[in-house]
Amino acid sequence: MSTGSADAKRVTTHTLQEMKSGGVPIAMLTAYDYSLARLVDAAGIDVILVGDSASNVMAGHETTLPITLDQMIYHAGAVVRGCQRALIVVDLPFGTYQGNTKGALNSAIRIMKESGAHAVKLEGGREVIGSVERILTAGIPVMGHLGLTPQSIYKFGTYVVRAKEEMEAQRLREDAKLLEEAGCFALVLEKIPARLAEEVAKSVSIPVIGIGAGGGVDGQVLVLHDMLGINKEFNPRFLRRYADLHTVISDAVGGYVRDVRSKDFPSAKEQY
Ligand code: KIV
Repeated sequence: MSTGSADAKRVTTHTLQEMKSGGVPIAMLTAYDYSLARLVDAAGIDVILVGDSASNVMAGHETTLPITLDQMIYHAGAVVRGCQRALIVVDLPFGTYQGNTKGALNSAIRIMKESGAHAVKLEGGREVIGSVERILTAGIPVMGHLGLTPQSIYKFGTYVVRAKEEMEAQRLREDAKLLEEAGCFALVLEKIPARLAEEVAKSVSIPVIGIGAGGGVDGQVLVLHDMLGINKEFNPRFLRRYADLHTVISDAVGGYVRDVRSKDFPSAKEQY
């Protein structure tokens, strides 16, 4: 079977396992469209998550709950077309995997078949183990997600740090083990105390990627629009901004409007 030259350098779940073993931190970002995914991939990211945060940053919804499977597949297909190297993981959206293992398998198969992505991610521990196991029977790699799980926002009622109390921390430790034993290839830990995240990362053999979970884990993930500074309103402590695209884009658009109004644009050189 020919794998093609681009495939030769492709990051795989195996690569991530080797990175964990070798102590090389894994860099992961979200992306939802062709143009930005292409840039992110070319800049050397290891994993691109087509997150259901698309519901917030792309569609303007307040939560991640409304995004549909068809919409996730649309975003994932665009990202896949823009990437040559990164491992592409796609979130199973709310309502497509909980409480119905056959439905979970069908959702995951649709993502893989229709988008060309490489793995799926889902939120939760013991309550979704049946779905994780069933998806894995089809040979689809699964990434777990514990801690703050935004699809359960109406259960939590708030986006504050999770697992600060011992009972919840213990449940999280057990769920991480269950996900590892079920066969997940990696785990995202969102917004939990750094000490707990480090302990979990040391206790499981699979890579643990943190967001708001400190530096003691095996890698980091951020939402692309947040780290590029497109959203000014979202200011959690864990977010480091690497650019101020809000200002760059606002200034560029403002300049264009001014030039159109003053008829400075187009100039003689910019017409036929
Ligand atoms: O949807 C998303 O962007 C995520 C990350 C926050 C991990 O799940």
